[in-house]
Amino acid sequence: MENFTFLTKLIFLLCFSNVEVSGLPYFDMTSYCGQAINLSYYGIYQGKIELTTLSSYPRMTCTVTIVASSVQDRIMFYFEDIDMKNSTSCIDDSLQLFDGPNTNFSQISGLNDKICGYSKPGGIYTTTGNTLTLLFTSFSGSLVDSGFDAIFTAYHLGSCNSNEHDCSNGRCIRSSLICSGYNPCGDYSDCRLSVVAIAGIVVCCIAIICLLIVFVIFLRRCRRLLTGNGPYVAVKEKTSTTVFAPPTAYGTAKPEWNPPPPTYFSYSYTKSTSTA
Ligand SMILES: *[C@@H]1O[C@H](CO)[C@@H](O)[C@H](O)[C@H]1NC(C)=O
Ligand SMILES: *[C@@H]1O[C@H](CO)[C@@H](O)[C@H](O)[C@H]1NC(C)=O
Ligand SMILES: *[C@@H]1O[C@H](CO)[C@@H](O)[C@H](O)[C@H]1NC(C)=O
Repeated sequence: MENFTFLTKLIFLLCFSNVEVSGLPYFDMTSYCGQAINLSYYGIYQGKIELTTLSSYPRMTCTVTIVASSVQDRIMFYFEDIDMKNSTSCIDDSLQLFDGPNTNFSQISGLNDKICGYSKPGGIYTTTGNTLTLLFTSFSGSLVDSGFDAIFTAYHLGSCNSNEHDCSNGRCIRSSLICSGYNPCGDYSDCRLSVVAIAGIVVCCIAIICLLIVFVIFLRRCRRLLTGNGPYVAVKEKTSTTVFAPPTAYGTAKPEWNPPPPTYFSYSYTKSTSTA
């Protein structure tokens, strides 16, 4: 099934790569310390949160809460990268994630108490409510590490509205998020196409390839005519004019070039007598 999804995505990107080009909203966590990122305020349903845009992070304690629009909403997130100082039990620098509007709530299930080091938690994590709180702590700062970045998406369970996409795992996501390349469903079911649609896309791709081949052949022919065979063709045309010009033209008209003697005339004459 994974391969199938990958294939659909590839075909989709090949044929409709210009359909979904909207960029992912981006948040620099250090710019929001002690604040909330209110998704309904920004009118968004998916985004990226990164610790800092700098190549390394300073000493800090920073708390940020992501709030999804409605109380029925949940927040799903996954890590793209972790680049933090590694220490035993993450006592130096760490990231903690809480399942609620502040750090008094329990931590997100499936994750370690503290996250640090260089290997990202590979799963897809969800909140039980519409808020997610991040706490980043660094006692000394880092001169080389950039922190982390994660993709978050708002979704809800139950029946989907007309402007929502019904994911295979029962989640409803905003339709505008499908095929964005950021796995908004969490199971890659946002970009799955029906068999008919796949057939259509395959035909479209084959047609494009055929057109390209024809175009390349055409270009090659054009080039050959312009470089190699061009003058030869011109000479040939002139010869044929000479051969088939009516004999009377030589007497009446004044051609710029010297016409050859009309040998063909006597030849056809001889030929006609011999056959008679
Ligand atoms: C988020 O923003 C919306 C629209 O601007 C506002 O109505 C709502 O009260 C805000 N929610 C929070 C928790 O700040
Ligand atoms: C991170 O630190 C732990 C404990 O000090 C160590 O066992 C582990 O190998 C380190 N990982 C990396 C990638 O350096
Ligand atoms: C967390 O709980 C402590 C003690 O129960 C309380 O003093 C503090 O105000 C709470 N923090 C928040 C952000 O609600």
